[in-house]
Amino acid sequence: MQRFYPDELIEEIRISNDIISVVGEYIQLKRKGKGFFGLCPFHSEKTPSFHVDPVKQLYYCFGCGNGGSVIQFVMGVENLDYIEAVKFLADKAGILLPEGEDEKYKEIARKKKQILKINVEAARFFYEQIEDEKNSFAREYLASRGIKRRTVRKFGIGYSLKDWDALYKHLKAKGYDDDILLESGLVLKNKSGGYYDRFRGRIIFPIFDLRGNVLGFGGRVLDNSEPKYMNSPETMVYNKRKHLYGLNFAKNSSHKRIIVVEGYMDVISLFQFGIINTVASLGTALTESQGRLLKKYTEEIIISFDADTAGKAATIRGLDILDSIGCNVKVLEMPEGEDPDEFVKKYGADAFNSLINKSLSLVEYKIKALKSEIDTNNTEGKIIFLNKTADVLSKLDNDIEREMYIKKIAKEYEISQESIYAEVLKRIKPKKGFRAVVTNINTKSRFEKDKGKDEYQRAIKNERILLSLISIDNSLFNLVKDKISPESFEDEDNRRIAKAVFERLNSNKGLVPAELINLADNKNSNIFTRLLQEECNFEDNKKAILDIIKKMELFKLTKREREILNVISNSKDKTAEEVRNMKLELQQILYKKKSI
Ligand code: CTP
Ligand code: MN
Repeated sequence: MQRFYPDELIEEIRISNDIISVVGEYIQLKRKGKGFFGLCPFHSEKTPSFHVDPVKQLYYCFGCGNGGSVIQFVMGVENLDYIEAVKFLADKAGILLPEGEDEKYKEIARKKKQILKINVEAARFFYEQIEDEKNSFAREYLASRGIKRRTVRKFGIGYSLKDWDALYKHLKAKGYDDDILLESGLVLKNKSGGYYDRFRGRIIFPIFDLRGNVLGFGGRVLDNSEPKYMNSPETMVYNKRKHLYGLNFAKNSSHKRIIVVEGYMDVISLFQFGIINTVASLGTALTESQGRLLKKYTEEIIISFDADTAGKAATIRGLDILDSIGCNVKVLEMPEGEDPDEFVKKYGADAFNSLINKSLSLVEYKIKALKSEIDTNNTEGKIIFLNKTADVLSKLDNDIEREMYIKKIAKEYEISQESIYAEVLKRIKPKKGFRAVVTNINTKSRFEKDKGKDEYQRAIKNERILLSLISIDNSLFNLVKDKISPESFEDEDNRRIAKAVFERLNSNKGLVPAELINLADNKNSNIFTRLLQEECNFEDNKKAILDIIKKMELFKLTKREREILNVISNSKDKTAEEVRNMKLELQQILYKKKSI
């Protein structure tokens, strides 16, 4: 994990931000017993399973398993990395971060802030222009496309003057220097060193993030000239692969699905028709970061494609990426020649909703795409289609789902179920354990292995509970320090965390649960939080930790015992002396095990 600041400082920042009040800024919390409950901001739900513990200063969602300290909370909810989250919280608490090695980072942060300010100024300026009497034609253009005045305000739609440098002059008058204006992407430099506006004579759509920052802009011409759209370039604050147009509104829609459309106008039109759970990918294929972002707010992602984008290989690759990160993806195909904006204006919201309800699952969609590109009127084409369909179906890992699709496809494309089954089966690797049934020996060794694996998992969990208990009650460390060393932790991550924990406590510095969470990386912080919240509620922590110490010692001894037995049983090349020594060690182990 990237760390710029000393642990003590991070801890000061954490302590200065009470988790209840920070979380309370994002969701409504209700007191229930010793803790607080609310609706989880990381997955969509109707009944609160998001729990915040004011004593441990931790949160944990029983629904989606997300958990951590106030730092992880801010990382998740603000979509920031670790350092950015720490900065964010330092700002909130008015803590000044040190100069020095993070000077570069501070410079970047300062510039980012400035660009965001420039963007707000620009958005205001564009909006003033669209309100201005002399630009009534721009308002009329929007009206001619059915955009109401109220919507113009809601989306902050504006107009950029035709002049070469109206915005540049406006921003200069506000005191911004040329370099930062260039970096904002709103201003360009010409060959003779003069500056001019990127957006001229265009309808402007500001792109907001979830906090309402203006990240960048899209600008559309009012006629048929080219290019139809111009967009902000990548800047320090805008990365088009990471953001989605309209998510700031869609995330509040409390729908269990979000519809992804291609353009600004689609989002805006659908919004006017009450379909507010819509975002735009702005003409590019969806990326993994966008998928993760969406996944935080919705269970189902419905991608709406214009007929001409649909079915293309790049499009399908994008869908596979979403599928692979666990998004539930469906595909809505627009009728030939229409986009959602035109469609909803022509046929209304009900018609669009019925398209949503008819959207295809990823598998159905892929097979339909195959069908459209393969001519199945001849035998050869039929075989190719059957093979490619079997490829798609064999990747499903759910038998019931596969069977359902095979039935459906057999009917729809007039192929016998048996032939699809046969092809699919050829492609599925025999399940693990399939062969084990054949011979007893294999079955047994597999069983032994699994048993070992369970034991190992339990051992790792015990290590985590041990660390958690110590963080809850630092005095327990005295029971641990002479019996267990950080090196003897089985799991690599646990070993690293243990080292840090032991170091702190050995130098008489305290440790609280939230700090333990910070020592763990993202994946493990959820696990630790769950343990801290749910499992570390022993009646007697001392007894619990002594028990774990015993188990850890036993695990170590048993592991060594197995190693020795293994060596002895395959030891043609060992001398009698060596074997004798090993047997001696074995006896000592047995003795130690008994005494534990
Ligand atoms: N786009 C772009 N540059 C272009 C064309 C398109 O950046 N030259 C992006 C825009 O974000 C646009 C989206 O791709 O919103 C979809 O393109 P398109 O369907 O052509 O535009 P619409 O949003 O439908 O705009 P309109 O209805 O005004 O034609
Ligand atoms: Mn359109």
